[in-house]
Amino acid sequence: LLKLDNYKGPRLEPGHVWLAGAGPGDPGLLTLDAVCGLAQADVVVHDALVGEQVLALANPQAVLEYAGKRGGRPSAQQADISRRLVELARQNKKVLRLKGGDPCMFGRGGEEAIALAEAGIPYRIIPGVTAGIAALTAASIPATMRGVNHAITFATGHADADFDWTALAKTGQPIVIYMAMRNIEHIAAELMRGGMAPDTPAAVIVAATTAEQQVFISDLASVGKLVHELGVALPGLIVLGDIVTVREQLLRLVAGAGAAR
Ligand SMILES: C[S@@+](CC[C@H](N)C(=O)[O-])C[C@H]1O[C@@H](n2cnc3c(N)ncnc32)[C@H](O)[C@@H]1O
Repeated sequence: LLKLDNYKGPRLEPGHVWLAGAGPGDPGLLTLDAVCGLAQADVVVHDALVGEQVLALANPQAVLEYAGKRGGRPSAQQADISRRLVELARQNKKVLRLKGGDPCMFGRGGEEAIALAEAGIPYRIIPGVTAGIAALTAASIPATMRGVNHAITFATGHADADFDWTALAKTGQPIVIYMAMRNIEHIAAELMRGGMAPDTPAAVIVAATTAEQQVFISDLASVGKLVHELGVALPGLIVLGDIVTVREQLLRLVAGAGAAR
């Protein structure tokens, strides 16, 4: 049983906004402060990536407002969302702005914080477990491994991002790419053009930490085709680099230990 008597969470005051991360999907990966916000909020303004199990932890009186921007669903403009947060705070509501992962990792939390600060609204930012870390760990791929890598890069693969992938290829270090499912064929071609080996191990991690989690292993030359064939609608991350091979090593060891038992 949980024993949280010694945890005195912060108070969400009327007229204040908390910009909080909800983690990658599993409610077990929420921070205590995010749970505290869910318990106190009058309004929870959430993204599409925030799942039902997380929203179910909101206090029953809280109004849940969808402000997501995922393909297929009506999309809210960022400026509208920021305006809405200011409006709710000015109505003296206790506002929880809940975003998937960490609010400031490819989550536009920085822009919302600036909008709130400009409007003179008191706010607090509550970090969350970003998908780029959680998905790797959940897939048995260590983000760093002694003797394998000295650095790791988190990048967006969104087609709008004007980015020199060939320069990134030259670091020789693993790359975790968010929002890359539509653009990975182009990205992979650019990375190979920059000198990244076509047989660099690749993993596609879909719906990490949820019941739908799936992990697919490939290499840089084939990952674009794989993603294309999978055609997944769920959120996915792509990991490129030798850290990916640790997964196979771990699975083999675990299977071997099971067989020996
Ligand atoms: C707009 S970004 C938001 C990232 C978020 N702020 C974070 O820190 O994880 C959305 C992208 O995050 C990745 N993502 C989020 N949740 C995920 C999950 N459970 N499994 C795999 N990828 C995920 C996907 O690449 C998705 O397209």
